[in-house]
Parts: sequence; structure tokens; C-alpha cells
Amino acid sequence: MWFKSVGFALSVGMALVVVLIGFTLLSAAGLAGFSANDVAQASEPELQEVGMLPASQTAAPSPAASPAEAAEIAAGDALFKGNCAQCHAVNEQVVGPALAGISKRRPVSWLIPWIKNSSKVVASGDDYAVALFNKFNKQQMPSFALSDKEITSIIAYVKSEEGGAAAPAAVAMVSE
Ligand code: HEC
Repeated sequence: MWFKSVGFALSVGMALVVVLIGFTLLSAAGLAGFSANDVAQASEPELQEVGMLPASQTAAPSPAASPAEAAEIAAGDALFKGNCAQCHAVNEQVVGPALAGISKRRPVSWLIPWIKNSSKVVASGDDYAVALFNKFNKQQMPSFALSDKEITSIIAYVKSEEGGAAAPAAVAMVSE
């Protein structure tokens, strides 16, 4: 009699412990409950939209793109194919330079005006722009009526497609 109830109490105790351990493991693995990260991630694109976060920060390479990043890359992919792909590829030179590594060569503050109106940047006397324009036989890149957001999505797409090394052409040119 005495034995039986001790045994019963023990097995109830064990079952509780097992349930508790299970729950702890689940929440450690992030399967149960919220993590502060989810909330922080969701608000990044909004911050970027109002200009509080530099685009380069959100577009930082991460092994697993968040849904917002994936959507941005998909939008950039479509814009790239529609507007840029006849002259540019990410990893090879076509009519214009390979765009791989572009966000490391040039700041977004240069890329946006360049893509909107490259001849204006060349005309301003910007050293890099003038050298690049001369190197590509003064072939003018067309102007694009794209929004800043569309341009940063193209940059995010290029980043997602670039192979390990930055394209050598324009990098070498800067030091000439
Ligand atoms: C008709 C051809 C053409 C099209 C279309 C075109 N580009 Fe270009 N792009 C060029 C050429 C040529 C250059 C080299 C600079 C020059 O000659 O003005 C260049 C240069 C660039 C550079 C500077 C590259 C570097 O290595 O510094 C960027 C960035 C760029 N293009 C982005 C774009 C994007 C984004 C689009 C689409 C929205 C686009 N280009 C569409 C021809 C083109």
C-alpha cells in the first residue's frame, strides 16, 4: 500500500519534470513563444523607408533573408531584368561593367543619382564617374525614372546574386 502511493507520486513527479524539460527545449529552439528578434526584424524595412536606417544596413548579407528582404530582392530582380539586363550582368561585363560588388565600390548616395541620371554625375566632374565613362568609350548609360526604393531593391538583388569576388574592372580603375 505504502509502496504503491510512493511509486505513484514518483511517476507523477517524473512526468512533470519531463514536460518542463520539453517546454524549456522548445522555447530555447524558438519554437514556442516570441523572440524579440522577430519584432526588431519586422520594423527594419519601415525604418529604412523613412530614411532612419541606411539601406546598406538592411541589405547586409545574411544567410537567411527575412520575408521583407526576399520581397525586396524579388522586386529588384524584376526591375533589373526589365531595365538593366540588356547592358549589365551581375558577374560578367556586358555592355556596361559587371555589377557584382557595386555596393562595396560605391555608396548608395552615389548609386542613386548615377542610376537616375548618369550623365549628370559625369558632367558634375565626379572623378570616378568621369574615369568610368571614359573607360567605357564614353558610352552613355540611359537615365531611369526609378524611385530611390526601386534602386535600393536593384542593389539588394545584385548583392544577392554576386559571387564571392567583387568585379575587378571598376575597382582597379579607381587607383589608375
Ligand atoms: C544601354 C546600356 C545600359 C543600360 C540599359 C544600363 N546601363 Fe548601367 N552602365 C552602362 C555603361 C556603358 C556603364 C559604364 C559607364 C558609362 O559609360 O557611362 C554603366 C555603369 C553602371 C554603373 C557603375 C558601375 C561601376 O562599376 O561603377 C552602375 C551601378 C550601373 N551602370 C547600374 C545600372 C542599373 C541599375 C541599370 C538599370 C536600372 C543600368 N545600369 C542600365 C550601360 C547601361
